[in-house]
Amino acid sequence: YAVENIRNFSIIAHVDHGKSTLADRLLEITGRIPKTDSNRQVLDKLQVERERGITVKAQTASLFYNFDGKKYLLNLIDTPGHVDFSYEVSRSLSACQGVLLVVDANEGIQAQTVANFFLAFEAQLSIIPVINKIDLKNADPERVEKQIEKMFDIPRSDCVRISAKFGTNVERVLQEVITKIPPPKTERISPLKALLFDSTFDHYRGVVANIALFGGEVTRGHRIVSAHTGKSYEVNEVGILTPEELPADKLYAGQVGYLIAGMKEVKEAQIGDTLYLQKQPVKPMPGFKSAKPMVFAGMFPVDQSEYNNLKSALEKLTLNDSSVTVHRDSSAALGAGWRLGFLGLLHLEVFNQRLEQEYNASVIMTSPTVPYKAILSSHKLIKEYGEKEITIVNPAEFPDKSQVLEYLEPMVLGTIISPDEFMSKILSLCQSRRGIQKSLVYIDDHRIMLKYLFPLNEIVVDFYDGLKSMSSGYASFDYEDAGYQSADLVKMDILLNGRPVEELVTIAHREKAYPVGKAICERLRESIPRQLFEIAIQAAIGSKVLARETVKAYRKNVLAKCYGGDITRKMKLLKRQAEGKKKMRKIGNVEVPKDAFISVLKRT
Ligand code: GTP
Repeated sequence: YAVENIRNFSIIAHVDHGKSTLADRLLEITGRIPKTDSNRQVLDKLQVERERGITVKAQTASLFYNFDGKKYLLNLIDTPGHVDFSYEVSRSLSACQGVLLVVDANEGIQAQTVANFFLAFEAQLSIIPVINKIDLKNADPERVEKQIEKMFDIPRSDCVRISAKFGTNVERVLQEVITKIPPPKTERISPLKALLFDSTFDHYRGVVANIALFGGEVTRGHRIVSAHTGKSYEVNEVGILTPEELPADKLYAGQVGYLIAGMKEVKEAQIGDTLYLQKQPVKPMPGFKSAKPMVFAGMFPVDQSEYNNLKSALEKLTLNDSSVTVHRDSSAALGAGWRLGFLGLLHLEVFNQRLEQEYNASVIMTSPTVPYKAILSSHKLIKEYGEKEITIVNPAEFPDKSQVLEYLEPMVLGTIISPDEFMSKILSLCQSRRGIQKSLVYIDDHRIMLKYLFPLNEIVVDFYDGLKSMSSGYASFDYEDAGYQSADLVKMDILLNGRPVEELVTIAHREKAYPVGKAICERLRESIPRQLFEIAIQAAIGSKVLARETVKAYRKNVLAKCYGGDITRKMKLLKRQAEGKKKMRKIGNVEVPKDAFISVLKRT
């Protein structure tokens, strides 16, 4: 294929607007998969993707299509639709010259439509708006076209109306791809310059790198170098993705495909890296920002004897998802485990679910936290850390106010799109989450778009669920990183009869400390059994107690139920009580069952 006959494009859309369905139809029309009526969504390979109907890991497929008497090679690069995975969207887009922006004809523009549009716009790609689901009874393509014109400044006449489900007008989409999206800008007679934009891991062959060639060609036996690591490799196999791997003799400039070259670890295949021939070094292309974890959670095996199994499951899973950071951690209450960093809350959930489904591992995940920062004033601490600004992911390491100039918390800029009838409820939700309104605009007669600056911590737990339920599911939400801001943070201790419980230390905003402390005390009261003496449960900042609950004294006589009868039954009960005690942890003189820790720490 001559470069003029190649198109590299991606489909971007808000969740559920039909990206995967459209991809299926495109694969069918081009003969990659047999025609069926069912919704096969072949690009969504992972089980969690099928279950949740979301795309997690981007997949790529090369399509062959004849148009106007010419043969075209169309490389479709699939991208995930969810906020947490926008780093995958950007990396996929850098291998493309254009996108199909799919919008549901009933729902119209949603929060992620806006976010995805700007990613494509900033990358200076050609954007083809596609209005999907025109078969729906409530479809209102005209209204959606007006929104697109108003929000994105794209003439409404450019919109293609389709039904991906029934295949209506889908052929037209392929023709638009050919006529509206430019071919890749490359020179074939130039040294190899390949962008590594994604990778997967295969146990037998090592890393399978997805590459886009911006110059030259590559074939088996070539000696290539990674600009990032400087390591060199011999190429074992190249090919295209259909989406299955189809080996080819060579890949040429303009093409998108895969390459296997004996990279043993995912770390060697840095996303955004440039690969070149050892004989002909080139200047590396500007790389990607590496994805940084924004949400942290502890992970522990339910049973410590499962530690090693879980460890190996974790290793396998992170091979394919290098955006998860893993550090060993241990807790007196929950045993040995890890502290994991995720891109966002959905990322955490998907990871947890994959661990359970694909590796059959049962784990305790602790409630998510965000990375705080502190600017230190204590010379001793600055020396210890080797820098003035430190990041705190573990509450136990929170430095005292007396050693700190300023605490900082991570912020995000949130976009909410909703029918205006829910506006007042949404405004008060945002306010209760310490949100600062940045803008409010109408995107059509009845829909508003709100921009709010939020502390990330306020939205990681249940913000999205709250928003969905108060808007009967109509509001959509997306957020982007907005740096750090000064914050009045406090370290809150939980005390049992005056003794602090190390693993329950929490960092909170001063304004929110009371409700957070109260909730922890209540959960502990419900899960700590009565003992011979009264137990005071307190939440405190320094010496100031914020909340208190009490567990009354009580002698639990396990033999009372037996009415003096059967001695073997008595023995059994005594044994059971002794076993129960083994699982207890002593804080001072108070015995705390593992379940009590779990009920406070666990993600709900
Ligand atoms: P993510 O992968 O999560 O981003 O979702 P998606 O954008 O890939 O959406 P998907 O293709 O999974 O479609 C979402 C739902 O909309 C599915 O139930 C589809 O059957 C349905 N759907 C897709 N296209 C059409 C259409 O043209 N008409 C109708 N009526 N339903 C459609």
